[in-house]
Parts: sequence; structure tokens; C-alpha cells
Amino acid sequence: MPDHTEDTLQFDVEKYVRNSKKVDISDLDLSQAARYPVSDDEVRALTYMCDIESHTIVYLRAILNTCAVEDSQTTSFLSCWAYEEFFHGRTIRQFLDAVGAPVSATRMLEVQRASSFTEWLKEFGSSILCRFSRHFHGAYLTYGAISELSTLEGYGVMARRTRNPILAELVHRLAKDERRHFSFYYNKARLELRAPNARRLTNFVIRHFWLPVGGGVKPDSEVSWILSFIMGDAEGAEIARRIDNTIAKLPGLEWFDRLSVSREEALLELRQRRNPLAPQLAVS
Ligand SMILES: [Fe+2]
Ligand SMILES: [Fe+2]
Repeated sequence: MPDHTEDTLQFDVEKYVRNSKKVDISDLDLSQAARYPVSDDEVRALTYMCDIESHTIVYLRAILNTCAVEDSQTTSFLSCWAYEEFFHGRTIRQFLDAVGAPVSATRMLEVQRASSFTEWLKEFGSSILCRFSRHFHGAYLTYGAISELSTLEGYGVMARRTRNPILAELVHRLAKDERRHFSFYYNKARLELRAPNARRLTNFVIRHFWLPVGGGVKPDSEVSWILSFIMGDAEGAEIARRIDNTIAKLPGLEWFDRLSVSREEALLELRQRRNPLAPQLAVS
């Protein structure tokens, strides 16, 4: 990955804003989607991702309560980002409708109501932390980078694995957007984390409050399920390591191993749930 100076980052943000658009699937004939196989697990994973993508507006409200709102590059990005994520949720919903697994009209409200205390605390804590340290921005950007990278890898797995060519193309297009989102968060986090105080605060926040994509919004059992669905096999272990290694290149985050750890915990939990008498062996 090239080294990004502040000038090139500025250019990247401008380029991102210029190129921002809703995901275009007008050339995909969704009426044909049900002609190809869609597994129950794929429907479950797509419903999960639809919930998370649609939850972006709620997440945006939380971000705008933090010092992130004071950075013009970030607010430019967020304006376009929320728009794009909205269309991710909408696109997935259209696919689920087309294959006979519709998401209810009140789904978004149900997800918001089910969001846990952890999510509320995260939102509240972020706005408080900002009052004491402008370096919270680095933690938020790092958190965003991990989420976007996890999401793009997840869509990549679904695109490679599915036997439904329309779904494969659809999630492939979503992954391309997620890569642009990741690029912003990651490169901007790298700049913020040059400051020692930003590194210290980010380490504290990520060590104590980081959750996988959907954590705090979806039930813990569902978070474990999707981790195992996406990363449960040998390729998944490699993906978890790849995400960890990428995040560990950020200043001060050399220790980062949370995707691999979360994957192992999720697999262990699912194994225990299926067979409560099974010995608690580590999963590889
Ligand atoms: Fe998305
Ligand atoms: Fe994204």
C-alpha cells in the first residue's frame, strides 16, 4: 500500500466525494434471482447485513455527537458514506424480496429497539470522551477501518461462495464500495495515530470496547453465527489473520488480533451450544 501524505489524503477525499454514488444494480435482473439457488444461511447472512447497513443512519447520529464533526474531511466523507450505506441496505432488501425472503417494513425500528445497552454506552461514551480529548477521532477512525475491512472481506466470501450469480455480482459491487470506505478510515486513522496521545486513547478504546460488525446491534448469538459463517473454514482463518495484520500496521496497534480471537470464540461458542458436553478445546 502506498505511503499517504496529508496532501494525497486530501486528494483521496476529494476524489471519493466526486465519485460517490449509490450502488447501481439496474443492469441486474432481480426477477431472475430466484431461478438460482440461495441457501437459508445466505438469507440469514443477508438479513444480518441488511440490518447493519440500514442501521448506518443511527450510527451516523452517534458519530456526529463526537468530535468527528469538527473535521471537514470527515464530515465530507460521512455525508457520502451514509448515502452509499443506505443504498447497500436497500439493495440487499430488494434481493431478499426477489428470492421470497422479504424483510418487514418495520424491521429497522425493531433492530433499533433491540440494540443493546452496550451500543448506547458506546454512543454516550464517545461524546463524553471527545470533551476530554480531541484524539478520540483516531479511535473512531480505527474502529471504522476495522468494520469496513471486515465487511468487504465478508461480502467477498459471499461472492466467491454463492451458487447464485446475481447475488455474487451484487455483493461484489457492495464490496467495491466498502473498499473505498475502508481506504478513507484507514488512511485517515494512520495520520491521526501519529500523535502518542491518540495512540494511547485508541488502544484503550479498541481493547475495551471493540466489537465485530453488528456487535451491540444484533444479539450476541447472531454475531457469533455470522463470524462462523463467514470465517469458519480455513480460508476464514486466513481472512481473520489478514484483517488483523492490516490493522496491526496502524501506529500503536501492532498487538491487534481481535478478528482471529473473535473467530475462535465464536466457533467455540457455537460448538458448545450444539454440544454442551463437548470439552472446551481451542478451535483453529
Ligand atoms: Fe455497506
Ligand atoms: Fe461501508
